[in-house]
Amino acid sequence: MMTVPWKTAWIIGASSGIGRQLSLDLAKQSVKTVVSARSKSELVELNNRFDTITPVPVDVSEAIAVSEAYKKIRMILGPIDLVVFCAAVWHPMNAEDFDLVKAKQSFDINVGGVHNMLGAIMPSFIERKEGQIAIIASVAGYRGLPKSAVYGSTKAALISLAESLYLDLKKKGITISVVNPGFVETAMTKKNDFPMPFIMKPEMASKRIITGLCKRHFEIAFPLRLVYLLKLARILPYHLYFWCITNFILKSFKS
Ligand SMILES: NC(=O)c1ccc[n+]([C@@H]2O[C@H](COP(=O)([O-])OP(=O)(O)OC[C@H]3O[C@@H](n4cnc5c(N)ncnc54)[C@H](OP(=O)(O)O)[C@@H]3O)[C@@H](O)[C@H]2O)c1
Repeated sequence: MMTVPWKTAWIIGASSGIGRQLSLDLAKQSVKTVVSARSKSELVELNNRFDTITPVPVDVSEAIAVSEAYKKIRMILGPIDLVVFCAAVWHPMNAEDFDLVKAKQSFDINVGGVHNMLGAIMPSFIERKEGQIAIIASVAGYRGLPKSAVYGSTKAALISLAESLYLDLKKKGITISVVNPGFVETAMTKKNDFPMPFIMKPEMASKRIITGLCKRHFEIAFPLRLVYLLKLARILPYHLYFWCITNFILKSFKS
């Protein structure tokens, strides 16, 4: 693992999966890390493993709570060098089982949570003229995929948000990155009943993310085989794209 440049970090969505692994990997490199999510006990367990990890539970869909959490974190750690937003929910949904409550909740957490985080941190990052922000989106945000009407559109929104902010923030000395993973073995993918090509362990995902962030890449996407296939799909005209989805993806769902 690369030696990291950060002294302090805030990992949001750290109670499981990719966020949890990132927190452990940063702690191993002596980064003072605050971990947030709703499940307090999981965060405390991280603190039991490394006393440089501090739990600050928060529900990212609540703007005031996020802002209060950030104030508390600044008191504990001082300036934050790196914020990684990993929190999200994934509700697979077809047209026939479209669920309005789950759709709204997904946007409140996956996208609204990022707005709440940015609203809280932006003034102090801009004042300090440094810092790194990483938003975990997904390759599912590249194009509309089956079962992914809600989740995919939250992730497309995050990719667009990060693209829009990149140049503005760069002028102010701040780096924003968007992380687009393929399939990673976490609680999130446990519920999937379809083939997940090139699925990887959270340890590998964390390593890729940390390496990309150290190099200040705008996009950190992996595994490359899946990323290239989906990026190619992005430039296909609709009739060809829908033909590929029908003949490759939907057929594999049924098998
Ligand atoms: N796994 C994959 O294949 C994959 C692929 C592409 C992208 N991603 C993205 O990678 C990120 C991490 O996913 P993961 O696979 O590690 O999933 P995970 O294990 O389910 O972790 C999701 C995290 O989000 C937190 N979270 C959910 N709702 C929250 C809320 N309202 N407030 C605060 N925290 C909340 C969860 O904690 P609590 O429930 O304790 O709050 C948990 O820590 C997500 O953005 C996901 O969309 C994952």
